[in-house]
Amino acid sequence: MANAPQAVMNHKQDEDLIRDFHHIWHPCTQMKDHAEVPPLLVDRAEGVYLYDREDNRYLDVISSWWVNLFGHNHPRINQSIKDQLDKMAHVMFAGVTHQPAIDLAEKLVNASSPQLTKVFFSDNGSTAVEVALKMSLQYWLQTEKPKKTKFIYLKDSYHGETLGALSVCGINLFREKFEQVLPQNLEVQGPDCMRCPFGLKRESCQAECFEPMEQALVTNRNTVAAVILEPLVQGAAGMKMYPPVYLKKLEEACKATETHVIYDEVAVGFGRTGSVFVSEHHGLNPTFVCLSKGITSGYLPLAATLTTEEIYQAFYDEYESFKLFIHSHSYSANPLACAAGNVTLDLLAEAGFMENLKPKIESMREQGDILRDLPWCGEFRQSGMIAAVELVQNQKTLEPFPIEQRVGYQVFLEGLKREMYLRPLGNVVYFIPPLVIEPDQIKTMMNAAYESISAVLKGI
Ligand SMILES: Cc1ncc(COP(=O)(O)O)c(C=O)c1O
Repeated sequence: MANAPQAVMNHKQDEDLIRDFHHIWHPCTQMKDHAEVPPLLVDRAEGVYLYDREDNRYLDVISSWWVNLFGHNHPRINQSIKDQLDKMAHVMFAGVTHQPAIDLAEKLVNASSPQLTKVFFSDNGSTAVEVALKMSLQYWLQTEKPKKTKFIYLKDSYHGETLGALSVCGINLFREKFEQVLPQNLEVQGPDCMRCPFGLKRESCQAECFEPMEQALVTNRNTVAAVILEPLVQGAAGMKMYPPVYLKKLEEACKATETHVIYDEVAVGFGRTGSVFVSEHHGLNPTFVCLSKGITSGYLPLAATLTTEEIYQAFYDEYESFKLFIHSHSYSANPLACAAGNVTLDLLAEAGFMENLKPKIESMREQGDILRDLPWCGEFRQSGMIAAVELVQNQKTLEPFPIEQRVGYQVFLEGLKREMYLRPLGNVVYFIPPLVIEPDQIKTMMNAAYESISAVLKGI
């Protein structure tokens, strides 16, 4: 610890921690970083705050990897899990059903686009995507179009890190080491609004950038099963945002070419963009919607893939036809997770909840002004309760900081000094806080981000 930066001292990690965590290999982490800066040992969490063992608090700016909606230690969610626990913790989900899953499926169907009437439960975002991909493939196989076996995905898209999900991932960092074993799907250049090649603005464009997608769909109509994308916000790409007109065009082109549409709402679903689901809110007609993360408000692993009656019917037959969908996970539809999911949907549907997000969204916009003024601000963007500032070396050319400079990591360390748990994506410092964050906390969060970014970049 002798050489540890001030930020580490600031979050008062004790020496024992270095010994304590040495058996653990953390996700998406260069473990050597922790030789100098140990992971933050979070002891408890309450509302929008995480607390360490010395009771220092950190605002959970990114909702614990985008999952938490109603704050930590929420009394109603806690109670629903406790009540369910007293009845049954888990039961397999084949040949068996249970009330929490029945209720949750009904709530999900009611809240989503009207044509989505069937819910297939699994247990994390990547598996929700795997299920949609496999269902799409099998649908075409069983409806006499067996050549439709490819997927189109967008450059910079992210749909999880299992091999199937990686085969539709458009971010090299995640896929390049595994390229040799990935099925070859079709990557298409998607919207890049900050650096729009047409020099247009999101607010007024007509998705002129749709052309490559149109081309790919028309050219490959006999071999493409589905297009998968994250509607409105490409999260892991650095909260890249694009307008709904792109999705309208996509649906028209997919209809014309007999191609399924898969919206991955794992990150944007459950209120993040200011509506419960992007697809429902914008009157979209997907074939599949993938959900996870916020589905249990960040309490327990659960996922759901929603689809249509038409898809369902292509699998519905005598057993001997072997048209059933063979896909299962031991913890699919875990009752404790479904109980948390039911309260999540109830809280979102409660009178005034979504309406009350409007002033918070406005507050994110207003308080974000301070970040717009940074001399390194390439763009401040926002979609509902998601906001991001992309830092650049040069505001005119939008030249990014080189990855080796690790600007984001340094901002993270500076954030800890200021009671913020930020976790930038490369040069993008983003905010996706629990929806229950209050305007004064939004102000503190934006100010702390401003100070953290300034502290890092003034030194470069
Ligand atoms: C859009 C999107 N899809 C899928 C996933 C994968 O979810 P999980 O990490 O639960 O596997 C993520 C995770 O960040 C995501 O953002």
